[in-house]
Amino acid sequence: MRRRTLLAAAVVSVPLALSACGSSSDAGYSPDPEALQVYSAQHDAVTTAWAEGFTKKTGIKVQIRDGEDGSMGHQIVEEGERSPADVFLTENSPAMTLVEDAGLFAPVPAKVAAQVPAGRRPSSGAWTSVAARSTVIVYNPEKIAEKDLPASLMDLQEPEWKGRWGAGAAKPDFQAIVAGMIVQRGEDETKAWLEGLKENAKIYENNIATMKAVSAGEVPMGVIYHYYWYKDQAGTKESSGSTKLHYLKNEDPGAFISFSGGGILKNGKHQAEARKFLEYVTSVEGQQVLADSGSMEYAVSKGATSDPALPPLDSLDPPTVDPSKVDSEKVATLMTDVGIL
Ligand SMILES: [Fe+2]
Repeated sequence: MRRRTLLAAAVVSVPLALSACGSSSDAGYSPDPEALQVYSAQHDAVTTAWAEGFTKKTGIKVQIRDGEDGSMGHQIVEEGERSPADVFLTENSPAMTLVEDAGLFAPVPAKVAAQVPAGRRPSSGAWTSVAARSTVIVYNPEKIAEKDLPASLMDLQEPEWKGRWGAGAAKPDFQAIVAGMIVQRGEDETKAWLEGLKENAKIYENNIATMKAVSAGEVPMGVIYHYYWYKDQAGTKESSGSTKLHYLKNEDPGAFISFSGGGILKNGKHQAEARKFLEYVTSVEGQQVLADSGSMEYAVSKGATSDPALPPLDSLDPPTVDPSKVDSEKVATLMTDVGIL
């Protein structure tokens, strides 16, 4: 009992407050100089489980600052060399490349790189993946048969799909899919596709709202990440009860795998501890913490296993996209130009 209390006290989570203009404030965040500072845009439950596991193993205190991919990435860049951040964890790759392009990461230690297969981390070596999520189509079989689903994500810009699909288009999760499309198909094709999205898609608040709308029969299908569906199916099924998943495979932009990132800030005060933390997160033990967290994200390290309910990561036939080329600024510019953001 006492040990649990001590551990709970060692891992402190402080949300990053956002103002309306998209800049962030420091309200409520005061970094403890003794604690490893983890800026985290990952799901809170996953980061907290990693932090607790790490503290238990090493005795090193961890303080978590919570936020969303984009706002946290910009926060770190804005803070520059004065940033208290030692480690940055995200849900998707674009926020990592933002910090990478600002030159703020220290190279990933060799031990970490050795734990994660080369195809699952950026070729630059500036950061590593720590988890993965697959793009999927969620559909309502009462509204559309699986055989009538689009063969490619690119088809959804065609007039026949007007009003017939949904997406949480303004959220970082979805923007990562668009960023992957830019790498694969280029900016012009992606812009045309986004114009089709604006015309055809119903825009929902996020992945869960999209899945709920599909389940309620409001739209026949939606584009989401896999884990929202598996989480809901493992629980009450209240948001996904009438739906099924379809994987586009075939290296399609709609089979994009988004890697969640972990990186060490070169100006952080706790370099050795930060290296240890990333080693732990990408170890088989750390990846098991992810698998046991109920987040349903994929484990990425060699020898690590994901939740058994998931189809194997190696069976999804995603497009090959170097995670360090998945750029957040280009996506934001294109989506703003088209009038989605
Ligand atoms: Fe998410």
